[in-house]
Amino acid sequence: MKAFSKMRYRGIVLISVIMVSIIIYSCQNQTEKSSKAVSKEIPWKAPDISKLPADSSSLQIKYGKDLIVHTSKYFGPKGSIATISNGMECQNCHLDAGTRPFGNSFGAVFSTYPKYRARSGRVESIEYRINECMERSMNGKKIDTLSKEMKAMKAYLTWLGKDVPKGVKPAGTGIQEIAFINRAANPQKGKAIYLDKCQSCHGINGQGLIKPDSSGYLYPPLWGSESYNVSAGMYRISRFAGFVKHNMPFTAVKTNPQLTDEEAWDLAAFVNSQQRTEKFFSYDWKKISAKPVDYPFGPYADSYTEKQHKYGPFKEMKKPESKSAR
Ligand code: HEC
Ligand code: HEC
Repeated sequence: MKAFSKMRYRGIVLISVIMVSIIIYSCQNQTEKSSKAVSKEIPWKAPDISKLPADSSSLQIKYGKDLIVHTSKYFGPKGSIATISNGMECQNCHLDAGTRPFGNSFGAVFSTYPKYRARSGRVESIEYRINECMERSMNGKKIDTLSKEMKAMKAYLTWLGKDVPKGVKPAGTGIQEIAFINRAANPQKGKAIYLDKCQSCHGINGQGLIKPDSSGYLYPPLWGSESYNVSAGMYRISRFAGFVKHNMPFTAVKTNPQLTDEEAWDLAAFVNSQQRTEKFFSYDWKKISAKPVDYPFGPYADSYTEKQHKYGPFKEMKKPESKSAR
């Protein structure tokens, strides 16, 4: 009798374990499938701005878009509101006002902010993140968080991401990662590719080309005092390489890239070894173990040099990069 109830007990435990496993397994599969549908396979597609009704919140969204397309008109060297940024437009790096898949698009902003980011070591709001690009990529000053302009840009980013579930980063948003190469990126090789494939638009000195009516750039600068500064995301060569691989020369698109991975890394090494504004933020990467492998300023938690952290080879140096490090 004792033996029988022991067996029965064991049987019940076994069946329960199997059932619980099946439930857990099928749940995991479900979430994987549903997040795949949004995040892994189909690139994010922006909502259609022309379909907005003619009300005041739509006007705000459209003003926000205009600020991202024509940033210099409002905030550049001849800005109508303030002169607090270089002559670039947000759109120069966030293509088609942040709607182009793989063009550093904005589809994951509303779904993932506010979020903790290791660079600043704080939880960042959308406004905070916009101002980081103002201070670094635009080599400028912060926009007042309560201003009409900040509210409009936030409204635009919020509307762009309205259909993306909270926490999800869909495919085609932000900068696309490219594979590490087996050697260090090479500025000399990068220079030759630059002269061949980039110089015609961005200029022999990386200075870009101002529009004939001097209302902004036809081709934005890639280095020098009018470009992004050394604390900008583009200054990390993985960000630069990922952006140019899928978007440059200007006609290149993700499905038809015109650069190999090696060329993209070498170009990044060349452009980011040219002179640009040295602006630093004392609170950046306070936790040094969180520094991304290609952050070119020490001190580091490992024994690699600044040069190795700038050019690689990153393969053997790599530690998995946390999402918040971006
Ligand atoms: C010189 C290029 C450049 C310019 C100009 C620029 N940005 Fe950025 N921006 C970046 C890079 C690089 C990132 C980081 C992307 C990544 O790592 O995936 C970024 C990230 C962002 C993010 C966070 C995106 C996300 O999904 O986490 C926002 C929001 C943003 N930029 C807004 C702006 C706004 C607004 C402007 C204009 C005021 C601007 N940027 C100008 C290069 C630029
Ligand atoms: C046909 C002209 C053209 C060529 C060739 C070209 N670009 Fe660009 N590039 C542009 C334009 C235009 C933009 C701004 C896009 C916008 O505002 O929509 C841009 C933007 C950029 C940006 C982001 C903005 C900035 O100034 O930092 C980078 C980085 C860049 N290009 C790198 C390159 C590299 C590297 C090459 C060579 C492989 C290259 N480009 C070739 C036209 C060109």
